[in-house]
Amino acid sequence: MQDKTISESTEMIGQEITLQGWVDTKRDHGKLTFIDLRDRTGTVQCVGYQKMGELTPESVISITGMVKERPANMVNEKIPTGKIEVDVQSYEILNVAKELPIPVEGDGYDINEEMRLKYRYLDLRRTRMQKIVRMRSKLARAIREALYERDFTEVETPMLTTATKEGARDFIVPARLQPGKFYALPQSPQQYKQLLMTAGVERYFQLARCIRDEDLRADRGFEFTQVDLEMSFVKQEDVMQTVEAVVKKAVKEVGGVLKDENFPVIEYLEAMEKYGADRFDMRSEDEKKQGILAFAWVVKFPFFKQVDKADAAEVADGKSGWTFTHNPFSMPIEENLEQHMAGENIGEILTTQYDLVCNGFEVGGGSIRAHKADILRATFHIMGYSDEEIESSVGHMLEAFEVGTPPHGGIALGFDRLVMLLAGETSLKEAIAFPMTSSGRTAVMVAPNPASPAQLKELGITVATKQAK
Ligand code: AMO
Repeated sequence: MQDKTISESTEMIGQEITLQGWVDTKRDHGKLTFIDLRDRTGTVQCVGYQKMGELTPESVISITGMVKERPANMVNEKIPTGKIEVDVQSYEILNVAKELPIPVEGDGYDINEEMRLKYRYLDLRRTRMQKIVRMRSKLARAIREALYERDFTEVETPMLTTATKEGARDFIVPARLQPGKFYALPQSPQQYKQLLMTAGVERYFQLARCIRDEDLRADRGFEFTQVDLEMSFVKQEDVMQTVEAVVKKAVKEVGGVLKDENFPVIEYLEAMEKYGADRFDMRSEDEKKQGILAFAWVVKFPFFKQVDKADAAEVADGKSGWTFTHNPFSMPIEENLEQHMAGENIGEILTTQYDLVCNGFEVGGGSIRAHKADILRATFHIMGYSDEEIESSVGHMLEAFEVGTPPHGGIALGFDRLVMLLAGETSLKEAIAFPMTSSGRTAVMVAPNPASPAQLKELGITVATKQAK
């Protein structure tokens, strides 16, 4: 293990130090060679007399030398180690770096995306990406801690599961033991987290990986991470207050600056009138420049909408011509419960859905759930499901609701989107260590790939047409 880190070197003037890291830069001045050595804590200038001339940038080395104060005229106030340098006595090359396929200095925006993702392990070395990777981790920790403080329990839910309706296509996985049958990867842990309420967990959360086959956009990936939570015995305001407190605390811990200490609550219709959208940016041009975060809640969404005939998922769900706008498991607002149960004035029924928006992006969404079987049944009846179809798609939920499921509600925050906004980035890819390319190819390792004939045989699958590359 590393004996000392570069950040500790400033405390060791007059002493010998051994450091390990990467050759960040190298400058030759006759018999003197200067390198900046880099580790996870920073960089430090190292000076070698008649040595280190053969080092290449990004090679990994271990050096031993004396920590010395720099002469006053050589002090660099811009870096924490700017007052010292290491006078190298000996060094060892741990691994030589060849010429790099992409540069690791600079912000990297000008490098072609395919190259950045093919060599993501190099791309991640740049300062900008290092900061994001660490900030993401810090944010996850701050959110976890804020939730633990509020007595939440972290529970993992299955990745190989059955279709979970979140309005996208499923990714499916063939089951070897049951040829011809498939698992679906979860679009969200929605149903499992509700079942955890039935199980008496009361306060659940998970940094959940979600997988959705939907059209890729700058703020949307096939896989992404949600801060997913669910609470029992709560009203809409309770969940909103809890989430607001957690988001505020965590965001501030990683240096985020908020426009409003209390998140404004705006009704859907008002938002549409005022901003023409249910995700909007309330910041002034000046606030945008400063990277300020403007969170707001949007409430009172219509529960149902008319099916968009061009959308296969909506057509499948909305057999009656109506489908849900956000979440079929939601509870309608109290004033509309009666007409929901009767399936009347469907377009007027409002849901308990609350969305969290920030700087023009939807960063979260949740609701109070229908925790009684007849309410969920009514939702599916409105969408035109027969009793048999309801039984086969959500029968397990109806069963659970009849053995003591408490009233409950929750939310899922788009964790990648939060990281993206906090980092001042405009693409989700900048917030993820190994994101996919815009055409859906994985970073570094190439996927998707054809399965081998042996695999296909074992799975009982025949590929009918050659897919385009
Ligand atoms: P929803 O589908 O709104 O709700 O997802 C919650 C939040 O997850 C983020 N998000 C995404 N981020 C990146 N790429 C994607 N493809 C993507 N899709 C969604 C968004 C969104 O607000 N089960 C419900 C939550 C609940 O009701 O508790 C759900 O998944 O920021």
